[in-house]
Amino acid sequence: MATDAKILVAGATGLLGSQIAANLLDRGASVRALVRPGIDAEKKAALSALEARGLELVEGDITDDVDKLAGALKGVETVVSAVQGGPEVIVDGQENLLRAAEKAGVSRFVPSDFAIDIFKLDYTDNFMIDMRKKAAERFAGSPVSVLSVLNGAFMEVMITFMQIVDFEKNTFSHWGDPDQPMDLTSVKDTAAFTAAAVLDPALAGGAVRFSGEVLSMRQFHAAVERATGRTLEFRTLGTGAELRAEIERQAAQTQNPFDYVALQYQWGMVTGKAKFDSLDNDRYPEIAPTSVEEFVRQNAPGA
Ligand SMILES: NC(=O)c1ccc[n+]([C@@H]2O[C@H](COP(=O)([O-])OP(=O)(O)OC[C@H]3O[C@@H](n4cnc5c(N)ncnc54)[C@H](OP(=O)(O)O)[C@@H]3O)[C@@H](O)[C@H]2O)c1
Repeated sequence: MATDAKILVAGATGLLGSQIAANLLDRGASVRALVRPGIDAEKKAALSALEARGLELVEGDITDDVDKLAGALKGVETVVSAVQGGPEVIVDGQENLLRAAEKAGVSRFVPSDFAIDIFKLDYTDNFMIDMRKKAAERFAGSPVSVLSVLNGAFMEVMITFMQIVDFEKNTFSHWGDPDQPMDLTSVKDTAAFTAAAVLDPALAGGAVRFSGEVLSMRQFHAAVERATGRTLEFRTLGTGAELRAEIERQAAQTQNPFDYVALQYQWGMVTGKAKFDSLDNDRYPEIAPTSVEEFVRQNAPGA
């Protein structure tokens, strides 16, 4: 794809989307961001920095009327979605965005997948991935090529949200097989790989899979210890089957799936069910991803 092709990023005020937009600009692409009206001052300031580098802004919401949204996509070759939300955003909103892309003559659509292998998981394994699988079903048959970018787990979430590493108690608590390889990538490297894939003329639809580093829980623990110079007690909380039972126990007790979604991600990883069968890192040798050890050295609390 020529770098003068226009790329629209939805979700450019977000954690990942902002870095995808920045990486596309770094690669000389012409980038437009779809931005919801009424964003706060901090998000506005972050966008101004990108605007100074050539980012074009267009106001809109992916749930807007299809004709209105198609106007925002005029002249766009690829739409990259890095939105986050519930089914109204991930399923209905992204389908709406795809329909607008069809109307506007867009060639390619990158949905907001950015996860472990959503195509290997089954419905009910992970409620957030269920939404992405459902969206993928809605995209089927579109004349627009749909390209999924998968990155495993963000290193950022592995040391926070997943509740594996406790830097206060000096513990490392995981479920499942401690030697099962897992795909781990920083947000920065996910954005870099996404921009490279989006501007790759040889890629149309399908899926590409990237991993900053492939490590087992045991190797992840060792990397955190090396990076921090601390000793973290290594605790295996149970098998993969016991983890599934724990998720089901928690699901029966709450209406809020966010209470146990971190465990659902961990289950997909430690059972190997959502492990990538192959990686596409070699397509872009110019990207040298950050290792977990280096990432933790830079990002652990008190680092
Ligand atoms: N693999 C992993 O470990 C991992 C971890 C975290 C996230 N992710 C994935 O990365 C992707 C991006 O997540 P994130 O954490 O970067 O999200 P985020 O920071 O919460 O940003 C979400 C973005 O979506 C935009 N948005 C939401 N609803 C919208 C709508 N109706 N119309 C237009 N824009 C809308 C938001 O705009 P406003 O600023 O207007 O709200 C914001 O720009 C998601 O697919 C997420 O699942 C993966």
